[in-house]
Amino acid sequence: MLILGIESTCDETAAALVADGHVVRSNIVATQVELHAKYRGVVPEIACRAHIENILPVIGESLSKAGVAPGDFSTVGAIAVAHRPGLIGSLLIGVTAAKTLAWALGKPLIGVDHVHAHLYSVVLESNRQPLMPAIGLVCSGGHTALYRVGHWLDVQLIGSTIDDAIGEAYDKVATVLGLGYPGGPILDTLAASGNPRAIRFPRTLLGRESLDFSFSGLKTAVLYHVRGVPRRGQNVKSLDFRPQPAGQQLHDIAASFQAACIDVIVEKLKRAARQTGAKSIIIGGGVSANKGLRAALSNFHVPVAFPPLQYCTDNAAMSAGLAHVYADAGRVSDLALDAIPYSQFAR
Ligand code: KG4
Ligand code: ZN
Repeated sequence: MLILGIESTCDETAAALVADGHVVRSNIVATQVELHAKYRGVVPEIACRAHIENILPVIGESLSKAGVAPGDFSTVGAIAVAHRPGLIGSLLIGVTAAKTLAWALGKPLIGVDHVHAHLYSVVLESNRQPLMPAIGLVCSGGHTALYRVGHWLDVQLIGSTIDDAIGEAYDKVATVLGLGYPGGPILDTLAASGNPRAIRFPRTLLGRESLDFSFSGLKTAVLYHVRGVPRRGQNVKSLDFRPQPAGQQLHDIAASFQAACIDVIVEKLKRAARQTGAKSIIIGGGVSANKGLRAALSNFHVPVAFPPLQYCTDNAAMSAGLAHVYADAGRVSDLALDAIPYSQFAR
């Protein structure tokens, strides 16, 4: 079955056509990075307005790239949409477009969870199914969470960040270092030629068996390293601006920050695998593109699956793929489908 997927949970407007849950016929992503770059983070109102402008052209392009003739939807079996979690204004655009198409064309509508879809992205193109039960890690700009995945319809939250998401920490550290947005890919590249042991940044592991994450202390440690530690009662903004780190110093900070992030992730994955007896690890979300993380997990004691690079960040192919599993299980939505800003497992 060919499924049209629609994604608008945050700042990417995307549409894709995927056959049989893994054959990606088209995958169109209209990024809004330039609109948000000067604010160094996603501005919800700007995102929502850009989705309105982009959604129809993006869907149209995904159909034509997949060879679906204009006006002939006979080959499209269902319309899938990521309807949770995300920014409410952004979600509403994709959900409304999907409902309208499903109603007008008389096609089934399938609402999928965006975070579960990030995990499913490891199946795209290869159709290699991970061994289950698996530990799923979603690490992105909006989420850092661990799941026990019994199968694609049995996804249970077992740990999550208590403050910043890891991608958010990358983006904020990049800002402190005077680098561009989004910071993740820039720091990843700088880290490749830095010394990961140059600065000992903290590894926050919380309790001995905890599967939760915390990245705000690490982010602050980088800030203090660059600007100096404020004295009691002194606001960090008022600190004398030291010269921005440059050259090898910058590479070393990036590598040391990345090493701290990776050490925490590896330790949490070990704990989660031990506690649940997982047979494999699945990693999705923007930070799963990280070269250092991929290298660090290359010899993990159970197989680790990463998505092809183009499906790490937000896309609609992962939602269309997961919707195939939902459709097979009869998990079809109706026109009452709502945009829901929080995850099914919000704590
Ligand atoms: O999955 P995504 O597109 O959006 C959310 O659902 O949040 O992830 C975007 C995040 C950004 O914070 C970006 O800096 C980060 O993923 N990112 C990376 C890399 N590529 C993207 N972080 C570390 N290393 C990378 N190579
Ligand atoms: Zn995402």
